[in-house]
Amino acid sequence: MLGFKHIAAAALLAQGVFGEGIHLFNCRPYGAAGSPQTWLSVVAYCANDADCSNLGYTVPGNDACVVSSSGTAESYHHWEGGSQSCTFPTGVTFSWNIPANAQSQPNFSSVGSGSNSYRSFAGYKDNKVNGASFNYHSCEKIYYYI
Ligand SMILES: *[C@@H]1O[C@H](CO)[C@@H](O)[C@H](O)[C@H]1NC(C)=O
Repeated sequence: MLGFKHIAAAALLAQGVFGEGIHLFNCRPYGAAGSPQTWLSVVAYCANDADCSNLGYTVPGNDACVVSSSGTAESYHHWEGGSQSCTFPTGVTFSWNIPANAQSQPNFSSVGSGSNSYRSFAGYKDNKVNGASFNYHSCEKIYYYI
């Protein structure tokens, strides 16, 4: 029994279920978000990666790095095409470098690595379904790093 549990836990870890993850989100305001409304691009850190994909989870302020904020509906940051970074309120900086053609690749394609001051992460194109929320915004998953 113990052996089986260990194997199952290792498999879940490999999928990132219990590991940390970083998500690049485009977030639209809830109807009740107030005025003026903003459309945000956000780098979200989830100590438990699955939280970032959970519609019922709200990313806390310290785990969110706002890359851009626009008053124009559906206007978001351009994530691709070169080396970029964002510094969280905690002072931790996350850096990424997504190929310019990444959006024309299949879902879950590799988009190279990203890194913070702790370690390097493997990056993937996400499938743009809704994930967690942030500050009265509902976020679409654009890329993720595990
Ligand atoms: C990615 O996944 C989404 C959601 O399942 C789907 O609508 C979209 O067509 C997929 N895109 C590609 C490039 O396969």
